[in-house]
Amino acid sequence: MSRFISFEGIDGAGKTSHLDALESQLRQAGHDVVRTREPGGTPLAEKLRESVLHDAMDALTESLLVFAARRDHLVQVIEPALARGAWVLSDRFTDATFAYQGAGRGFDLSVLSTLEKWVQGQRQPDLTFLFDLPPEVAAARLSAARQPDRFEAQDTAFFERVRAGYQARLRADAQRFALIDASANQAEVARQVDAALQSRGWL
Ligand SMILES: Nc1ncnc2c1ncn2[C@@H]1O[C@H](COP(=O)(O)OP(=O)(O)OP(=O)(O)O)[C@@H](O)[C@H]1O
Ligand SMILES: [Mg+2]
Repeated sequence: MSRFISFEGIDGAGKTSHLDALESQLRQAGHDVVRTREPGGTPLAEKLRESVLHDAMDALTESLLVFAARRDHLVQVIEPALARGAWVLSDRFTDATFAYQGAGRGFDLSVLSTLEKWVQGQRQPDLTFLFDLPPEVAAARLSAARQPDRFEAQDTAFFERVRAGYQARLRADAQRFALIDASANQAEVARQVDAALQSRGWL
């Protein structure tokens, strides 16, 4: 049976690290796994990602580009994969738009909700891991790792708003989410991810 799982949280929370771990675990168990990311996941959406991460633009333009990329990603990759029974693991999805463009940049949440309905209809992830941790901890993890993009270069106050934006999405649809204490060490975070999947009978 297909599963659509998204990984969310501020920059440096540990999403990609734990996606890598879960992807190999599921492949070893013989599952058909589609690993993808947002913005991106198709050639067109990856081009839009480059623009969103590196070009200056207003928040509506940014939101339209992110949802345009999402539409292409859903049509080309996610829906076909779910239709054939695959597990789709996405590094970010729509909660990130509400958290970054909505809470982080202060863009109108009702416009985002309208775009969400246009682009996705009823489609939502079956499960969303929210990797939650203080922005200072995440920033310390990233500081050595790489050059910041437009979002990573934002200050702590921005990431506090993004974190709160994610928490608001969780409160609005709590049964879709598994809240992960991402400030813990990697082994403990992996244990929390496993526990969430086991509690749903998925592992
Ligand atoms: N639980 C953890 N404890 C300490 N360090 C961690 C933990 N999880 C991940 N890291 C390290 O923190 C850094 C950021 O992790 P990762 O790239 O997985 O985060 P991310 O959520 O994908 O970030 P981004 O949103 O910027 O892509 C990496 O160097 C990773 O090795
Ligand atoms: Mg990442």
